[in-house]
Amino acid sequence: MKILTVIGARPQFIKASVVSEELAPLCEEVLVHTGQHYDSNMSEVFFEELGIPHPKYNLGVGSGSHGHQTGEMLMKIEDAILQEKPDILLTYGDTNSTLAGALAASKLHIPVAHIEAGLRSHNMRMPEEQNRILTDHISTWLFCPTQTAVSNLAKEGIEAGVSFTGDVMLDSVLHFTQIAKASAEKVAIYENLGITPKGYYLATLHRAETTEGGIDAVIRIFAAFEQLPYRVVLPIHPRTRALAEDAIKHAGFKNIQIIDPVGYLEMLLLTDGAVKVLTDSGGLQKEAYFAAVPCVTLRGETEWVETLVGDWNVLASLTTEDILEKTLTVMPDPASRDAAPFGDGHASARIAEILCTPKR
Ligand code: UD1
Ligand code: UDP
Repeated sequence: MKILTVIGARPQFIKASVVSEELAPLCEEVLVHTGQHYDSNMSEVFFEELGIPHPKYNLGVGSGSHGHQTGEMLMKIEDAILQEKPDILLTYGDTNSTLAGALAASKLHIPVAHIEAGLRSHNMRMPEEQNRILTDHISTWLFCPTQTAVSNLAKEGIEAGVSFTGDVMLDSVLHFTQIAKASAEKVAIYENLGITPKGYYLATLHRAETTEGGIDAVIRIFAAFEQLPYRVVLPIHPRTRALAEDAIKHAGFKNIQIIDPVGYLEMLLLTDGAVKVLTDSGGLQKEAYFAAVPCVTLRGETEWVETLVGDWNVLASLTTEDILEKTLTVMPDPASRDAAPFGDGHASARIAEILCTPKR
């Protein structure tokens, strides 16, 4: 069995790290990196730190408009498929790399396996919602992280090939948190930033809906960060860097500490030590939940509705008042946190077994 795996963006490297490890003893995997993320702290760091096999192909597609980026990926992934002749194309999540991989394979009649199938925000303006719906509808294997995802697919008439496997991000958090906590650099991470555990907030911002409001939208968010009782540490996604720096300069904010994007182990430690997480990221919402750190999601909706139970995660609109109110007043119910909806931490092994066991 030969699997061609297409990845290209930061969260996909993290997810692939645990799945590739399970695939390795069972079948042949060829990795294709589309090059969607290319800065070393958005790509290389994860391959080094998480022991992900070196991609056989790096398509070097880089940044661009949705059409250009996805179109170039489509052409180049098609070439890689024709070269490798895989039995299965494996794709993750909801990025342009996800859709390009699925579409290229489907048109060549190579069956597609989709990890993180069935998630829905019900907001079709999101590029991610378009990518995941289209990918799900042309996939043969749909690996769902939650039962909500299974029922989302059923509502769209997709039942064949659907399995609830649990969330591969729970696998990765369980595996790498142990390693991060045992690492010699652990103390230095906090010291270097001048912070102490439970003495700071952790924030990330990169969603298109956040940045398309321009500097005014970022100033509204930062005006809330400025009034919080602890410093806000913000590992900045390259999409948001210029806007964030301009906003801080323009408004003279002092409570926001912008840092370069960090590696995954450092991010797990920063999440673990935070008073709260404030983010528009999909993955970070869950990592906060798994670490029992309350989260304020800076979006109108979430695909990860299970995290909302007991107010471990609350949604805030992008206004100063709402962010402040949700961050300062909402406290989670400790009795209500339950990681069971995300599986048992063995999603990757389950997926590898399904894909690599020949049909009788
Ligand atoms: C993409 C995904 C998003 C995912 C995110 C993970 C799509 C449509 N969006 O968003 O779902 O949550 O990745 O982080 O696929 N840039 C750099 N260096 C890099 C990468 C990006 O400077 O290594 C800058 C470029 O200016 C680029 C911008 O960031 O135009 C946006 O990058 P892009 O990959 O298009 O989208 P993301 O916001 O990263
Ligand atoms: N992450 C990281 N370093 C950072 C910021 C995020 O390792 O500086 C990790 C984070 O822990 C999570 C993943 O990247 O596992 C989330 O990626 P991102 O927010 O870019 O994308 P999304 O999950 O929203 O698709």
